[in-house]
Amino acid sequence: MLRTIDWKDNSVIMIDQTKLPTELVYVKFTDYTAIADAIRKLVVRGAPAIGVAGAFGLALATIQSKATTKEELINDLETAKKILFETRPTAVNLGWALEKIMAVAKQGKDISDTTNIVVNTAKRMAEEDIQINMKMGKHGSKLFENNDTIMTHCNAGALATVGYGTALGVMRATKEDGKNIKVIATETRPVQQGSRLTAFELKHDGIDVSLIPDTAVGYTMAKGLVNKVIVGADRILRTGHVFNKIGTYQVATMAKRHGIPFYVAAPLSTFDLKSNPKDVIIEQRNAHEVTHIGDKKTAPDDINVINPAFDMTPPELITGIITEAGIAKPPFDESIKKLFEAKK
Ligand code: MRU
Repeated sequence: MLRTIDWKDNSVIMIDQTKLPTELVYVKFTDYTAIADAIRKLVVRGAPAIGVAGAFGLALATIQSKATTKEELINDLETAKKILFETRPTAVNLGWALEKIMAVAKQGKDISDTTNIVVNTAKRMAEEDIQINMKMGKHGSKLFENNDTIMTHCNAGALATVGYGTALGVMRATKEDGKNIKVIATETRPVQQGSRLTAFELKHDGIDVSLIPDTAVGYTMAKGLVNKVIVGADRILRTGHVFNKIGTYQVATMAKRHGIPFYVAAPLSTFDLKSNPKDVIIEQRNAHEVTHIGDKKTAPDDINVINPAFDMTPPELITGIITEAGIAKPPFDESIKKLFEAKK
């Protein structure tokens, strides 16, 4: 299984996802500002992976700090937290992970104790991410049957997490439970996380995958080629509104029209129980991603571009939300509340 991000000898090792699928390259980071840059440039992407990258960024910041008192170290960490937090606004796991690290850092007795606590908590967070995905897989597998063909959008796999994946983790667990599955992956324009990452990852792991253009979602569903859909999420509200890669809303709408169950798989760290739909900032990305395919220009000069990275799928289009604590079903405001109460 691919390991997206790891801590080794006081440095962070990550797969450079911008080089996939042609090259599987690992890059080493010793500076938290370079981690911030890597998050911004999608070297590392996917909500849970960004969260762990942020935590490791703060771990590097403790090591880089020249502070001589614990108070100075906490100030340095606050600066690093701000820089890391401002990289990408939509996935809630980043803020969740940074806050968690800051809370433990404040409990350190002195500089060396604080550094140890921060590094060890970030490392534990990475290991827990894999364990959480495996638990999610066990719950989710029950929803899938032998010979299902499952559609997915974007990449919610090992590459979007530390390992195993959320939506693709559920597929892995379904296979591990002895069921045969096929996958249809959308290419996921504009930066092809579906074709570059999901198709690469599933092929790497020997899972049967077919790639379709985003525009063939309706065609494949109308032809009866899809039994179920499963995607990941960047942020889920207490009402069950799901923010995920741009195009998810269209896939969910099509699934509803064709009576195909539409599932979301995400850890509890992806839930934002405070915000309302209008509060969530949808990241707008560079126009170049739309006006070019690679380096080739595919649009006229000076064209206006709208390039949102995420959209919102309303709860009425969602059949179930799979988490490590169980599966939430509609009405989501009640079932999500119960999942969090059970966690306490
Ligand atoms: O822009 P990205 O590639 O970071 O977007 C990623 C997604 O939208 C994923 O589907 C989501 O983070 C879930 S990952 C487990």
